[in-house]
Amino acid sequence: MTPGVKPLVAGNWKMNGTSASLGELTAMAAGFGVALQEKADMLVCVPATLLFQASQTLSSAPISTGAQDCHAAANGAHTGDISTGMIADAGGLAVIVGHSERRTDHAETDAVVLEKAKAGLAEGLMTIVCIGETEAERKAGSTLDILKTQLAGSLPDSWEKGELVVAYEPVWAIGTGLTPTAEDVAEAHGFMRGQLVDRFGEKGGKIRLLYGGSVKPANAAELMAVENVDGALVGGASLKAEDFLGIANAYLEIA
Ligand code: PGA
Repeated sequence: MTPGVKPLVAGNWKMNGTSASLGELTAMAAGFGVALQEKADMLVCVPATLLFQASQTLSSAPISTGAQDCHAAANGAHTGDISTGMIADAGGLAVIVGHSERRTDHAETDAVVLEKAKAGLAEGLMTIVCIGETEAERKAGSTLDILKTQLAGSLPDSWEKGELVVAYEPVWAIGTGLTPTAEDVAEAHGFMRGQLVDRFGEKGGKIRLLYGGSVKPANAAELMAVENVDGALVGGASLKAEDFLGIANAYLEIA
């Protein structure tokens, strides 16, 4: 937690879900009660094919929808890509950029992620920039160096619109059931906070820093209570309303 910063519980459905899954969103809305709404914001980043329907499904609920990637350009000859304007047009209020699966599967560099982040923010979207070290990098003791490089290379120098959010997702923790210890998360998030304050001043002290990688109802309270952890980016456990709400409900326990 960061004093004065409202946490965000964000789901990333990845390449999962069809219109048959929209009922999970309805169930999330039903379970996201007033007491919890006061404690945390909620967002679900669905596949692009579902974004319009998901936004409609949640139109009267205090849960936002978003996309999982975007192209940096506003339009043009980029077969299969979607622009930030298209995301907004479909009802999305957020976009994830630089997820490690994009960095790996699509060879996205920090420079590419930076351009996407700029496009997301310029559209006024909440733009969640993901960073994190691989297992080999952690074993080599270079975690903080990697975070420093990715922060420096993936974040814009300034932005007028939108909200910049940073998600720390150790690559080895994603989808594996493994998580860093609370002490490791505290070290990484404290380091990131320092980097952001050095670069952006007071604004950097208020950027929401999410932790992602095997967050589950069983470990959410411990991880979310860590200093400078302002929410979660949740993959597998965001697909089912019960699990996702179980994670969000951790905020009812944290003072
Ligand atoms: P996971 O994925 O919760 O399934 O580990 C997290 C993510 O990739 O955002």
